[in-house]
Amino acid sequence: MTTLPLHDLIREASLAPSVHNVQPVRWKIEEHGLQMFLDMRCRLPHGDPENHDALMSAGAALEGINLAASKYGKSVKFHPASTLIEVPGLHYLGLIEFEDGDAEDPLSSFVESRFSWRGKFQTSTRKMRDSAARLAGADCHVFNDPADLGELAELSDQASLNFMSRRGFRGELVSWMRLSRRHPRWSLDGLNADAMQMNRLEAFAASILLRRPFDWLQTLGLARALVSDANRFENTVGLMVLHRSVGENPISSGRRFYRHWLEVEKAGFVANVFAALADDLNSRKTLHRKMELPDDREIYSALLFGHLPQGVARPARARLSLDQFVL
Ligand SMILES: Cc1cc2nc3c(=O)[nH]c(=O)nc-3n(C[C@H](O)[C@H](O)[C@H](O)COP(=O)(O)O)c2cc1C
Repeated sequence: MTTLPLHDLIREASLAPSVHNVQPVRWKIEEHGLQMFLDMRCRLPHGDPENHDALMSAGAALEGINLAASKYGKSVKFHPASTLIEVPGLHYLGLIEFEDGDAEDPLSSFVESRFSWRGKFQTSTRKMRDSAARLAGADCHVFNDPADLGELAELSDQASLNFMSRRGFRGELVSWMRLSRRHPRWSLDGLNADAMQMNRLEAFAASILLRRPFDWLQTLGLARALVSDANRFENTVGLMVLHRSVGENPISSGRRFYRHWLEVEKAGFVANVFAALADDLNSRKTLHRKMELPDDREIYSALLFGHLPQGVARPARARLSLDQFVL
């Protein structure tokens, strides 16, 4: 029986990022460690039909457990499911055991402060953009040239529009949005207006425009402006594009994705994910070409990062309570 404070580890793992903040992982405390499940009620059939993002989110949560365990001199050993453990509504992912590890992971102290910043960045300088280049590595490329970033902003807007034009995708996204403080799940899960940096008027407008009127706006050629992130790309320090071996298990990708985000945080930046750049075929191909990646590598995520403007408060986190995570 492990002597680790597993509830504390699970609480820390709950701070990990998850797609649409659905927080799909459930935990069962076992004699030898932790059983890990996906809650199939959080599935996103339109946005994530293959469960890729759900599994990446699970990978991030697994890395969250690993980072928390490192404070106690332990690291995780993950045994992916080989047998099916039947629990209604849940999909068994595997067992986490703990083994002796090294010293505390230097990224563990950035878990509490990391968050998604979807507002404008502080205007970047050449010096800041140069410092961003230091974040590049063997499995991630950093774009920090303003001309490149301008081009990527176009690519990103088109990719977002491609997804948002699909009624099913949009409806599903809106169902995870909490556009009014009166929403019963405002501080529990999903994307609330504060997290999306929307004021009351913008949130109200979104609650109307993202439904049927979006199709009309699109016919009039006005929908792109609604989803555009061009003004955020203008002030950004860089775009980090993550790539992996073709066919890698998304749980492993999710672990590295979280670590990259924490590296960005450690370097003093704030960031948010631009999944559309990796999910849209055309933008993925364009990036692949621009980065001169070999055929055995594939792009799986992207993080836009920069500096938080002075005096801006980080939005409060929406998270489920511990008893909702633990079976
Ligand atoms: C697989 C995956 C895909 C994501 N895609 C996006 C995205 O396209 N846009 C975005 O703003 N955030 C995206 N996120 C970030 C989540 O929305 C965010 O982590 C979640 O809302 C929790 O908020 P926090 O990051 O502030 O803790 C993604 C996260 C994951 C794990």
